[in-house]
Amino acid sequence: MTFLASVFSVPGAMLPSSSLNPGMAVNWKWRHTMYKKSPIEMTPVIGILIGRPMLYTNSPEVTKQILGNKAPWDKFQETVNALAPMGPNVFATMRDEWPRHRKAVAPGFNTGLYASLWRETISTYYDCLATEKWENQKEFIMTDVPAVTSKFALYLISKCGFGIHLSWNGDVGERIKGMSLQECFEVTSSSVIILSFIPQWMYRLPIPALRRLYDASNILETILQGIIDQRRVEGFNETEGKDVFSLLLAANELEKGSKDALSDRELRSNVFLLLLAGHETTSKAIAATLGELACHPEEQQRAYEEIMSVSSKGKDPIYDDFERLSFIQGCFMEGLRMYPSALVTTRRAMEDTVLHVPGKDGTSVPLHIREGTAVNMDYCGIAYNSRVYPDPYAFKPARWLDPATEPLLNFAYGPRVCIGRKFAIVESTAVLTLFIRDYTFEPVLKEGQTVEEWHAAWVDHTEPSVGFGHKQFPLKMTRRGVSA
Ligand code: HEM
Repeated sequence: MTFLASVFSVPGAMLPSSSLNPGMAVNWKWRHTMYKKSPIEMTPVIGILIGRPMLYTNSPEVTKQILGNKAPWDKFQETVNALAPMGPNVFATMRDEWPRHRKAVAPGFNTGLYASLWRETISTYYDCLATEKWENQKEFIMTDVPAVTSKFALYLISKCGFGIHLSWNGDVGERIKGMSLQECFEVTSSSVIILSFIPQWMYRLPIPALRRLYDASNILETILQGIIDQRRVEGFNETEGKDVFSLLLAANELEKGSKDALSDRELRSNVFLLLLAGHETTSKAIAATLGELACHPEEQQRAYEEIMSVSSKGKDPIYDDFERLSFIQGCFMEGLRMYPSALVTTRRAMEDTVLHVPGKDGTSVPLHIREGTAVNMDYCGIAYNSRVYPDPYAFKPARWLDPATEPLLNFAYGPRVCIGRKFAIVESTAVLTLFIRDYTFEPVLKEGQTVEEWHAAWVDHTEPSVGFGHKQFPLKMTRRGVSA
């Protein structure tokens, strides 16, 4: 595919997709055709005026070769810098620097975290229903589904990620420089690339949006440093039921004096990164799952029956139910497969190497790769590759119950696999379980419109931002006869 700019250039990525420009979501926009003409499961995307050419692959086999242990591939320094406005962190580090960050962050992700995430999801759910005044309504329109799931994900990562409790009603709570904590999170996380590149002097210009961004990121850094100081005063002995940040701080305290210990700046950057990585990616995938379920009442019914068979009557589901809610998990994985909230994972060859790429005729073709070559592992390409997932355009949660199904690669693979994978699946399973238990939901149709027509328009009502996914859309929610 040839454009004026390559996707690995500022105009190529930032300008919208068109016949002249790839845009950030090139692999989503051309998902039906991108690999059609290529004899192997790889295709180049080239900019004739600016930017590095990029190979895209829709092969899980190639993805595993690149992301596997000790493979000669690494991230790009440029993309790493773009995600580190507060300095290096577990995501934004090259492979030599990365192990100390992963070692520091990993202890935060344990069973205690997931059990508390489950409980927090339930309490956030009731807070949401009460504040939105939905709890006593037989039916209502949820006007902006992605906004609701975004709020869920933000509150849960704030509470379980760094022990900050936000109330569903954003007006409640302390305001610093006129901004609520929630606004600080939202403003900073949605402008992370601007924050990484903009020189300090530009914040002094009379541009209100930049001033706001500057204030928000400073307030956030101050809050995070405040938590570090407070935990140091309290001590690190009590770790039971603690948030990721507390556990990270406790683990780092044990490293004090060793070369592996993280500085306060690195600690702040890692926690900020969790907020960034864990918020929009998860919320967009939950919204997509709700949208697909709304168009598939039979799958909703199957999910409801699973909930009824798993959780105790009249009681809220508990974390012990999580493993048994496999169909609900399948709904989420199917939503994420079809609408990958992280569109690609990018890597660069560190040396000349060979990839074995599946050919259309079932053979494996050795492809010589030069040092410096950039490859995007394309999660849309893999999702809609019918060799990998039969009937790929159909929403079929049950495919995830079949052990022969190719495991989901959307959380990447190998040593740098997403550390928040289980966090995202537990949170999504809990959110979906609660809504499906209490409501049936359906699309809000225009006069004369069919569900199929609504779905066809909704599928492409998407935008690439920190996480790729759907723009605002409504669903009609009807309370079920039974509830806890
Ligand atoms: C549906 C939700 C999510 C998706 C699709 C997703 C996807 C990914 C992908 C593809 C990577 C690999 C990126 C790369 O190596 O270039 C990654 C890494 C990472 N993710 Fe997630 N993620 C999700 C949720 C989360 C959550 C909830 C958290 C935290 C609570 C999180 C934290 C991280 C971190 C810290 C890394 C860096 C890991 C490392 O390099 O060692 N993610 N994620």
